[in-house]
Amino acid sequence: MNYNKKTVTDIDVKGKKVLLRCDFNVPMAKDGSGKITDDKRIRAALPTIQYLLEQGAAVIACSHMGKPKGEWKPELSLAPVAQRLSELLGQEVIMAKDIIGEDAKAKAAALQPGQIMLLENLRYDKGETKNDPAFAKALADLAGADGVYVSDAFGTVHRAHASTAGVAAYLPAVSGFLIQKELEIIGGALANPKRPLVAILGGAKVSSKIGVINNLLEIADTIIIGGGMSYTFSAAAGGKVGTSLLEADWEEYANEMVKKAADKGVKLLLPVDTVCAKEFAADAESMVVPAGQIPDDMMGLDIGPETVKLYCDAVADAGTVIWNGPMGVFEFPRFAKGTEAVAEALSKTDAITIIGGGDSAAAVQQLGYADKMTHISTGGGASLEFMEGKELPGVAALLDK
Ligand code: 3PG
Repeated sequence: MNYNKKTVTDIDVKGKKVLLRCDFNVPMAKDGSGKITDDKRIRAALPTIQYLLEQGAAVIACSHMGKPKGEWKPELSLAPVAQRLSELLGQEVIMAKDIIGEDAKAKAAALQPGQIMLLENLRYDKGETKNDPAFAKALADLAGADGVYVSDAFGTVHRAHASTAGVAAYLPAVSGFLIQKELEIIGGALANPKRPLVAILGGAKVSSKIGVINNLLEIADTIIIGGGMSYTFSAAAGGKVGTSLLEADWEEYANEMVKKAADKGVKLLLPVDTVCAKEFAADAESMVVPAGQIPDDMMGLDIGPETVKLYCDAVADAGTVIWNGPMGVFEFPRFAKGTEAVAEALSKTDAITIIGGGDSAAAVQQLGYADKMTHISTGGGASLEFMEGKELPGVAALLDK
């Protein structure tokens, strides 16, 4: 895939209306108060928004939130985002009552250079996820005949939706600074890494990481496996995993990956010991056993201390580290030690450290190491698909340099 895409600095936006796709799919408080619990994605869009406003563009921002599937669910309104964005920008953000309806059209038509408005949740219209050309055209029309489309929604570039891909058929399409940064850092690490390249892969399921393991086996020098998926590797090698998470259907695949690593000369590190407990609970009593020797009535919930040592040594002299997926059940402090040790090791290494979005980003943040990493991706599914080597429709749609 070609990542060398035109950006906002390659196009004249002065006096023009810019349709700006952001990923404002932010977590909201569960109590229905409309409180945003983490505004990282809104902050991440600020450099592009500020640049466009300073250049004298009129910005029509848009995003999805959640999965309303064409229904107008009030709890998924973007109004709280408009308010937070306005606080961060220090200027009014005009909130439209609809997406491509009369209110949005009137507000977009009246929008002046240096002003910003936000459309309602794009997924209130079924045309968004269906990549309906009529919906995409109506979005583009809001920006007018000499409008420009800027995408900065890295978290959504793996979706071929109307606002991420379809709209590029009707307006000149370039990336914002966030997408540019994500492409440069993650793309750079995959295409031309500072070596040795160490990939740390964790999380619950092998099945959700197949593509990543496969692709990284072509690129990385070392692959470290932790988290729930390590028990499938352990069982595949004939180990006893007790009641641990296990995807029996994927054991053969796990063995194939071990063989592929050996054939390619990639070091594949698996846990040598495990912290296990009888139940999945924060206060469950735990003990450490050698990997593959988990008692029948116990489950593995974290990597053990010997594994921690092995994994931390492996990242110490890395040139680049890519991390996707926690090492254990980090939500429970008792079983967060492996994930915490890896985060700490990454904070100390001189390597370029790249954290995939989703759980690993949350873990790094929760454990207080966020500002020690080179890059924490704003994309969960998007960073995963990027690491799988898949084409990202929201990037492919942009103009080449
Ligand atoms: C995300 O949170 O990963 C992005 O906003 C994409 O959301 P989606 O998985 O609902 O498409």
